[in-house]
Amino acid sequence: MSKRIVVDPITRIEGHLRIEVEVDDNVIRDAWASTTLWRGIETILKGRDPRDAGLMVQRFCGVCTYSHYEASILACEDAFGVKPPPIARIVRNLINGAQFLTDHVMHFYHLHGLDWVDIVSALSADPRKAVEMAKGYHPNPYNCSDTHYRSVQERLTKFVKSGRLGPFANAYWGNESYKLPPEADLIILSHYLDALQISKTGAQMMAIFGGKNPHPQTLVVGGVTSVADALDTHRVGQYLFRLKEMKNFVETAYIPDILLAATYYKDEGAAGIGSGVKNYLAYGGFPLDDDWHNLLFPRGVVEGGDIADPLPLDEKKITEEVHHSWYKGGEGLHPFEGTTDPQYTGFDAKGHVKGDEKYSWCKAPQYDGRPHEVGPLARIIVAYAQGHEEIKGLVDDTLKVADLPVTVLFSTLGRTAARALETKYIGNHIEDWVEELVERIKGGDTRTWTRCDVPKAGEGCGMLEVSRGALGHWVRIDNKVISNYQAVVPTTWNAAPRNKAGGRGPYEESLIGTRMADVDQPLEILRTIHSFDPCMACAVHVIDPKTNKVKEFKVA
Ligand code: NI
Ligand code: CA
Repeated sequence: MSKRIVVDPITRIEGHLRIEVEVDDNVIRDAWASTTLWRGIETILKGRDPRDAGLMVQRFCGVCTYSHYEASILACEDAFGVKPPPIARIVRNLINGAQFLTDHVMHFYHLHGLDWVDIVSALSADPRKAVEMAKGYHPNPYNCSDTHYRSVQERLTKFVKSGRLGPFANAYWGNESYKLPPEADLIILSHYLDALQISKTGAQMMAIFGGKNPHPQTLVVGGVTSVADALDTHRVGQYLFRLKEMKNFVETAYIPDILLAATYYKDEGAAGIGSGVKNYLAYGGFPLDDDWHNLLFPRGVVEGGDIADPLPLDEKKITEEVHHSWYKGGEGLHPFEGTTDPQYTGFDAKGHVKGDEKYSWCKAPQYDGRPHEVGPLARIIVAYAQGHEEIKGLVDDTLKVADLPVTVLFSTLGRTAARALETKYIGNHIEDWVEELVERIKGGDTRTWTRCDVPKAGEGCGMLEVSRGALGHWVRIDNKVISNYQAVVPTTWNAAPRNKAGGRGPYEESLIGTRMADVDQPLEILRTIHSFDPCMACAVHVIDPKTNKVKEFKVA
């Protein structure tokens, strides 16, 4: 008999997400993703000076602050018709690159890792065997010794005895969907603790050129203001020193841990568990020249998992639909025409999604009328399909080591592995940017800003790749102030509810067919949803001005 399960809220994400599934014989047959909070800033931006938008849109989120900052600045530069000088391009890449390194490490260990790793099982590991195991995945693994592993077990035992499990409370330890042996659990747990320190290092990298973190403040329309830092070799050295530390962690902990997990979860990957809509979209990002022709991540589209037929991206084919979103509106609109007009209808008396009605504050972005996944997996698949030499090589080499076919990418495991691979890829390129910066300064190029003025009227879009996926901001200016502003963020794409035709959004589709070991423990739902790295705060719009809330929810 089929059964409805509601997971509300999904934890270990930024913001509030509710997942409802229909389960039959422990297999998920249908799914609905609801974004349950309404907040954001697009409406507040109307009537304001576009030069202020960058600082304001950072407040969409407490995590993706820089992402929105840069998208907004790019949108304004497009509308103003101004090009920032090369040093500004490089500085922006250095901040965004640091954001990727920080976010991805934090995501795997602190937000997603415990969907794969059974912490309690780590207590029964043999530390000496764990050392041997870790050396099977890297010749010199991060912080690896039997004394260290034993001390991690002692720390965990103290935690458990105190009854205050802190970040390890309320999980599904012992669930049969956990597949790692105790030694692997111990290795990854030890890196979970190391990663707490490492994420600080990444934040410092961002702050060196961003002024502070979160919410950096050194970008302006036309360039950057971190002049003294960009021109100071001592500051550049501080950045490089931290980069080295981050890269070492990625190479000796993150990548080996992904390979370790893949060894034990490869059947799930091969079976395509969590694949989803299999349409992938990337705007392209990290410009390596000033015309955005040469990008670290290419721009493009892959439809229906067909990597033999990559398609170019046409910005005009992007629309947002609201048929199942709590907004007024009819047909899908291009973001320049987008509206944000609430129409809340709630859930039914049992607290379930009402038949075919609206059920989310998230809009449903479509490309060419179809839902698309964005994020690390989309970037990797688009690049792979286009035959991108370096990314294809990285993917193929990794698959060879793990003895897996390329189709394993279309899965929850593939999504998680793609994030690790792109972290390594970016880490390998940041030094080139630092070199270019130093060379340019040595050659006397010290321009950090191009003079510009707010146009009387205009429109522009800023499209780039940020850690969670393709991000676009669209701005319209009339009488020198913002007349319309729309952000379509990575999580809006991925958390989208059904489209007009009834097609499920990426989260929803990725859950279909998943077998749950225990329907009272939605571990498999968490594993797949977390693999997208949801950022709900980013995905939605504005809060109710009278009550400051739109829905009450219980935290079980
Ligand atoms: Ni965010
Ligand atoms: Ca929007």
